[in-house]
Amino acid sequence: MTTIIRNVFIGLSNSKFLNSQAKKWGFFLGADKFVAGTTISGVVETVKELNAKGISCTLDNLGEFAVDKQEATEAKAHILEILNAIDNEQLDCHLSVKLTQLGLNLDQQFCIDTMKDILEVAERYDIFVNIDMEHYSYYEMTLDVLDALREQYNNVGTVIQSYLYRAVDDLARLNNVRIRIVKGAYKEDSDVAYQDNQDIDRHFITLAKHRLLGDTFTSIATHDHRIINELKTFVDEHGISTDRFEFQMLYGFRNDMQEKLAREGYPFCTYIPFGRDWFGYFMRRLAERPQNINLMLKDALYT
Ligand code: FDA
Repeated sequence: MTTIIRNVFIGLSNSKFLNSQAKKWGFFLGADKFVAGTTISGVVETVKELNAKGISCTLDNLGEFAVDKQEATEAKAHILEILNAIDNEQLDCHLSVKLTQLGLNLDQQFCIDTMKDILEVAERYDIFVNIDMEHYSYYEMTLDVLDALREQYNNVGTVIQSYLYRAVDDLARLNNVRIRIVKGAYKEDSDVAYQDNQDIDRHFITLAKHRLLGDTFTSIATHDHRIINELKTFVDEHGISTDRFEFQMLYGFRNDMQEKLAREGYPFCTYIPFGRDWFGYFMRRLAERPQNINLMLKDALYT
């Protein structure tokens, strides 16, 4: 049953029609609990509040699958405004981007050039830019774009998904690149990805421990307290310095735990999505966790 529900919401997240309609309708179904508004000025206030609690942030200008180069160029312009705001306000904040918002689905070289424009400005401001990992059909292309960018820029990294069998090899190859480790949010075939949650969790822990023993910075991105507790113990036992890793969670999820980890002295970063293009992101969150669907239903009934 859980698998059917998950597949339904993943299917909805990919609907071009619903994604474009939702942009016009604005937030509903409780999406505002997980998406920090639509304006740069609004999200800047959210970042300031979290920074005041000792939490750093990464901003995601919501959107994926640009329909043409014009739309991708508009997304780039918005991202450059966000970088200016981070610098102007001296926020403790970096950026997360999805390459299909910047034209990876249209033209790979165009996407590389667009990313270079972004990284040039980010480098000037000393801001790190993380490339989110999307569906497996974009995986090779994303790594190729990363390689091309790394020839010129050091302020860029990406995400490794523990549901992929090949994650361990890719992580080894990217051993000098800042990486975020996640479980993986898309529906993937069994020829490339583990389907069983226990396998995915075990792989996550193996990958994270391997990285923590290395020298390059790693973001451990999960809401799973069992994984976090095991890695906290591992970090203590191995005397791993807190400048080598951080925990990350999504905005609106387990807020108490986010603040507790920061209070305990662990480096913590909240991933904050904002913008009008919220539908695909929100549907993937519903696919992950049936309890989020309950929240949505309550919201639909009582508002
Ligand atoms: P999961 O959803 O598997 O939950 C495990 C257990 O944790 C649950 O059974 C429950 O006990 C507990 N739990 C989880 N959420 C809870 C809650 N809200 N309240 C109480 N208990 C809870 N994916 C991707 O493919 N590409 C990407 O680039 C990214 N980027 C990214 C950034 C960040 C910061 C995060 C946190 C996640 C991503 N993801 C992602 C999504 C990721 O791949 C994954 O789908 C989700 O994080 C869900 O998996 P979890 O590890 O959080 O735990």
